[in-house]
Amino acid sequence: MSNISGLHRMSVKQRREAISNVTGISDWSPLDSGGLTMDVADRMIENVIGVISYPVGIATNFLVNGKDVLVPMSLEEPSVVAAASKAAKIARAGGGFQAEADEPVMIGTVQLIDVKDVYEGIKNIMESRREILKMANEMLPEIIRKAGGVYDFEIKPLYTDSGNMLVFYFYVHVLDAMGANTVDTVAEGIAPYLAERSGGKYLLRILSNYAVKRIARASARFPISELGEDAEEAAQGLIHAYNLARADVFRATTHNKGIMNGIIAVANTINNDTRAIEAGAHAYASRTGRYMPLTDYRLEGDYVVGRIELPLQVASFGGSVGINPVNKVALKIMKNPSSKELAEIMASVGLAQNFAAMYALVTEGIQSGHMKLHARSLAISAGANISEVDEVASRMIKDKSVNFDSAKKILEELRSRRS
Ligand code: MEV
Repeated sequence: MSNISGLHRMSVKQRREAISNVTGISDWSPLDSGGLTMDVADRMIENVIGVISYPVGIATNFLVNGKDVLVPMSLEEPSVVAAASKAAKIARAGGGFQAEADEPVMIGTVQLIDVKDVYEGIKNIMESRREILKMANEMLPEIIRKAGGVYDFEIKPLYTDSGNMLVFYFYVHVLDAMGANTVDTVAEGIAPYLAERSGGKYLLRILSNYAVKRIARASARFPISELGEDAEEAAQGLIHAYNLARADVFRATTHNKGIMNGIIAVANTINNDTRAIEAGAHAYASRTGRYMPLTDYRLEGDYVVGRIELPLQVASFGGSVGINPVNKVALKIMKNPSSKELAEIMASVGLAQNFAAMYALVTEGIQSGHMKLHARSLAISAGANISEVDEVASRMIKDKSVNFDSAKKILEELRSRRS
């Protein structure tokens, strides 16, 4: 069950035990250190000088397509994990999240320039359909064996500031991977043949992060009765908040940022490419020509019904996933999902996160929750040790002065009182 109660009141050890009971995880050691050894880190990127770690927390209460799932999240920002858990609890009272994701299909592109006759070029490429698909799939023996591979393509003429060109788009089922390496391999492999058929030259050969063939959708019915004392007002407030995001790009950007708080925090635990997810999501938010919220809300009887739809180019296997042993623990916590199931979970988390932020904003505001945790972070940065953190943080809140200088001053006073 994902509705483990009181996780926030437990010690780290007790939390691990509680999670082991439902997930069967027996080895937590990768999460003690952050997982990356220096040797591995030194092979991941260039000019390595060390590693950096982030906390990993667990969001509770998620019920996605009738299945309980605990969600590992990693980010520097306080309140996000608690907020996701809170919204998931409300959604749970309405039956949880219903989610579905498209098959994991990525789009590759090849740019063809100096094409003398673009229509002749298009015709020649279309006539070579069988050869192109065959050639592309010969580069992907393992993926083909597992029923993935390149299954279709399109070609588009473009009239640009540097003249006419063609863009060749091809579609690849990438199984449980994000697919960047697969797509780029094919793009580079087929480009010379495409150039020859087009009567031009190839230039860019790269995947598109506008992953519109890989859309994930989730919805939830949030019972109004669960929205606190002024529930009706809160429900109306949520609709007003949503409509502001629809009408104003300044709000829509922050609205979507809140969604990404959840999605990226999950992606971080499994070494997914967060820049790709962000790029795809924000481009999708602009698909009508205007930047819009990625969620929508309506009142329906006793419920606020929320929905999210966005491209999620996420991986539960391949690429960097698993380089860090923490990734394997995180995946196991989520019951080792396929990339499609992972997208469904992440879309649900995005919706929960957005609902939670809006609910806080239309009721008490986000600062009270944020400040408690922010005060703790400040106390730690000011040098407080574990036994001092809570006292320094509560003093700052009581004095209504939550900042680094106050943290330092309170810590000094505390220590001089003790000595
Ligand atoms: C903060 O990281 C995210 C929020 O600003 C999102 C929102 O305003 O909807 C709280």
